[in-house]
Parts: sequence; structure tokens; C-alpha cells
Amino acid sequence: MDNQALIDKIHSFERWHYQFELNGNLTPIADPTRVNRHLQRKAYFFDPLLKLYGGSLKGKRILDIGCNAGFWSLQAIEAGCEYVFGIDGRQMHVDQANLVFETKGIENDRYTFAQGDIFEYDFAQHGEFDIVFYFGLMYHINKPVVLMEKIAEVNSDIVVIDTDLSTLKGPFLEIHHEPLDDPRNAVFNTMVLWPTKQAVAAIARQSGYDVMMLEPKFTDYTGSDAFQADGRRAFICAKKSDLSALSDLAGSLEEDPPSRFVRGIDRVFRKLGVR
Ligand SMILES: C[S@@+](CC[C@H](N)C(=O)[O-])C[C@H]1O[C@@H](n2cnc3c(N)ncnc32)[C@H](O)[C@@H]1O
Repeated sequence: MDNQALIDKIHSFERWHYQFELNGNLTPIADPTRVNRHLQRKAYFFDPLLKLYGGSLKGKRILDIGCNAGFWSLQAIEAGCEYVFGIDGRQMHVDQANLVFETKGIENDRYTFAQGDIFEYDFAQHGEFDIVFYFGLMYHINKPVVLMEKIAEVNSDIVVIDTDLSTLKGPFLEIHHEPLDDPRNAVFNTMVLWPTKQAVAAIARQSGYDVMMLEPKFTDYTGSDAFQADGRRAFICAKKSDLSALSDLAGSLEEDPPSRFVRGIDRVFRKLGVR
């Protein structure tokens, strides 16, 4: 493809969620504050994943669910992985991912991108995966237990989950509704469930994983408000790997103690004999 055809192709897409450099052309990211956000997310959960594997994903097979334009699949390729399979419910994103990988000259046998619903697609047709990228997706679905079980069937070791969270206290799934016309959102279901951090841990443990929640220490929170508050976290879940190598990065999965206000109300109820 000549450069003008590449520029035309880049601009034919309704929205880019990432700023890629494609043969000297930058994809027009819809929200420029997200350039920093994605860099910070990489330092937050992708670098610890690399650390767990001694600095390289050499020889690893990756499943990237809700892969969008292939940003995280590309990080995996650049970290040396053997193969990545990315799936997204929107054909536009699969087309973007293929354009990115073709333009970057990634060998054809190192990747496949497919359009499909993660709940319907047979991942096993692409073999077993050492690592699953489950980024930016858990809060756009409403069957998180089913999906975790499905992941565990094809995953031999690690799942990294990066998700918006409900800030309710305890292991809860909070019901929300979201429009389907935003290409970052759910594809097939308007009702979605936001998990609390304890719910994420319980769901992963139920499928046989050890779970560590990572504490964010962004150097710049521009475009990343939810990470700065308690509204988003990343979790590294392992079937085999020893997560203790990352213990200095761990956040607390314990329930936060009740606030003074809640304890005060509790005391009043007790005095009244209601509790
Ligand atoms: C917020 S984006 C996250 C993109 C990327 N994983 C990241 O974290 O930067 C969510 C992606 O999941 C896709 N998606 C949502 N529900 C899906 C489903 N049921 N099956 C496949 N893809 C889905 C959307 O099309 C969108 O590209």
C-alpha cells in the first residue's frame, strides 16, 4: 500500500482508541489524554507481567479478548511472544488490528484477529494459551463467571484482568446499562455488571487461579481518573506461576474498614436494639 492509500485507510475508520505510528503516520486518537493513559497502563500491569516471565514473552502464546485495534497484542509481539490470537466483537476493530500488524510487518504466522462474540467463539481451535489479556472488558459483559470458566479451559497459566470496579464494599456485582453505539462498549448486551475488587478475586479463584491485585502508582494520572480513585484496578491471576515475585506491587483485597459514619449509624441501631 502506498503512503496516500495508507493515510486514506487510517482515516476511513470512525474512531481510533490508540495512537499508533504507522510508517510515519499517527492514527488520530479520539481522546488525546488516552496516549498517557495507555502508557501508564502498560507500566502498571504489562511490565509486571513481563517481570513475572523474566523480561520477555519469548515462546508464549497469547489470547487477547476484546482486542480492539490490537494495541496490547502488539505489545505482546514486541515483547517476543510466539503467537497472539485477538478477538473483538466489532469488525472495525479487527480491520484496524490487521492494518496495524500488516503495516508493522509482523509475520503472518504470529497472529490472527477474528470478529466474534467471546461467549460464542471456540478459542480452543487456536490451541492452548499461556497468557490471556482480559483488559477493559469485564465491566462490559454480564456473565463474568461463565467467561472466566471459558478462559480457564484454554489457559495454562496467567490471566491479566484490567477492569473498572464497583466501589461497593464486599464481593458484589453491580448492575449498569450502557449504550451499544460507543465502539468501546458492550457489543451484544446493554446490561453489564461492574465487579467489586473482591468479586474479581472470588470469580478468578473459583476457576482455579491465585489472585494478586496490583496497586497503581502512575507517574501521571492524566486521562486515568478511575485508576487514581478506587474505580479501576488490574489483577494478575496465576494457575502455575508464583506471584510472590510481584508482592511489592500488591494492593489489598481486604474489605476496607467501615467509615466512621457507618460505625456511628451501627452504634445508634445497636442502642435502639435494632441490631
Ligand atoms: C474498552 S475496549 C478495551 C480494549 C482493549 N482490550 C484495552 O483494554 O485497551 C472493549 C473492547 O471489547 C470489545 N467487546 C465488548 N464486548 C465484547 C464481546 N462480547 N465479544 C467480543 N468483543 C467484545 C469491544 O468491541 C471493545 O473493542
